[in-house]
Amino acid sequence: MLDNLRLWIRGRLYVPDKGADERSRMRLVANNLILHLHPTRVPASALRFTYTWGLGGISALLAVVLIATGILLMFRYDASVEHAYTSIQLLETEVMFGSLVRAVHHWAANLLIITVFLHMVRVFYTGSYKKGRGFNWLVGIFLLLLVVTFNFTGYLLPWDQLAYWAITVGTSLLGYVPVVGNVISGFLLGGPEVGQATLRNFYAIHVALLPAIFIFVMSYHFWRIRKDGNISQPERRAGERVARLTTIPHLVQREFAVASVVITGLFLWAMFVPAPLEELANPARPPNPAKAAWYFLGLQELLLHMHPLAAMILPGLILAGIALVPYWDRSDEDIGIYFRSATGQKAALIGTGLAVVLVPVLVVLDEWWIDVPGWLPGWPTWLSNGLIPLAMTLAGLAAIYTGIRRHLRSNHSEALVGLFSFLVVSLVVMTIIGVFFRGPNMALVWPF
Ligand code: HEM
Repeated sequence: MLDNLRLWIRGRLYVPDKGADERSRMRLVANNLILHLHPTRVPASALRFTYTWGLGGISALLAVVLIATGILLMFRYDASVEHAYTSIQLLETEVMFGSLVRAVHHWAANLLIITVFLHMVRVFYTGSYKKGRGFNWLVGIFLLLLVVTFNFTGYLLPWDQLAYWAITVGTSLLGYVPVVGNVISGFLLGGPEVGQATLRNFYAIHVALLPAIFIFVMSYHFWRIRKDGNISQPERRAGERVARLTTIPHLVQREFAVASVVITGLFLWAMFVPAPLEELANPARPPNPAKAAWYFLGLQELLLHMHPLAAMILPGLILAGIALVPYWDRSDEDIGIYFRSATGQKAALIGTGLAVVLVPVLVVLDEWWIDVPGWLPGWPTWLSNGLIPLAMTLAGLAAIYTGIRRHLRSNHSEALVGLFSFLVVSLVVMTIIGVFFRGPNMALVWPF
């Protein structure tokens, strides 16, 4: 009633509406901010959700959630061996919404690893590292490593059994990295074993060093996307016209919808599934099995089959190969097309199928039958169980690549799609084996 009267008066007289002025100024600022991140118009096809799956944006959103909840956690967390665990317990029991804030931080961090990984997979499959986007691909790989380091350093902070032993295993894995491994793990540990110095180092890296680097690199990643001509699109045929839509409201509406679903889902999940907290860390009582964090279990699985030297060189070579892919796949006519072509789709299926069958078979064979060091007594294990299986694996990867090229008559880029699929699915399968199928003494077990 009163509102109607006000509107009626405003229709007849000029009554300045301070609220409306304020709102339009805020809208102007918001639009300005959005148009700093996005171009004013985008190709209609770039708005298709199933092109990007919103994964880059979701990762950025999760990063913001992590920074916000991380700041809240800092008010109560105490980075000392004596008080870290109790400060978490107090946060969970005495602080209003403390348990929720911690759970949101925990699950967002885990989800971020998955979304960033899937974003990388989508960028690869659409060939979006082509046409001048190679450097941003490299920046992305650096972001992926930063996200893993964020998770790794955060893992220790609750100072419970899970944290203590996962980091003990994790830093010992680091020690196997040739040349720099011991220096890095020594620096992180700050002493002979995980202790007060480690907790202090991890905390400083987690809350100060990494956020500063991450915010800078992520901003650069966004700036580069615009500089490289915005997100990739298939090549236009001669004379073909591209329909363009305005960013506001078309793109922003979609981003808002995705963000609302992600935030709602995350909060609901966090309300019902609290972040884990086991008993206080006890250096004298290692759990059996002592497992690394889930995203390192693929690596830990590799260590069960190969000498540490090979188990570190192999993922290092694969990571370097993936990071440098824009420099050894230079064709760019298939940019923006999922799997490059129908042949590329077949290559992806072959790579996936091979990984799903070969990896479990090899794991089982190696557990009960393959024993190269036993077959070659007197040979040093770094050779019999290290360089020999490493050379065989690299030869296997080369065979997959050449097999796809010959069998499908594919081009280089399509064969890389097959090889990449094999590597990505192998990592997923090995991680699943590490999480569910490894029991006491890391022996294979049936989980159901
Ligand atoms: C926290 C990590 C990351 C964030 C927040 C992020 C964010 C984004 C966003 C918002 C986009 C726009 C398109 C989209 O939503 O897919 C994008 C595009 C891109 N990202 Fe990322 N990204 C991250 C990590 C990575 C990684 C790990 C890679 C690859 C190794 C990568 C490589 C690229 C490339 C090459 C583009 C351009 C894609 C195109 O033109 O279609 N990014 N990123």
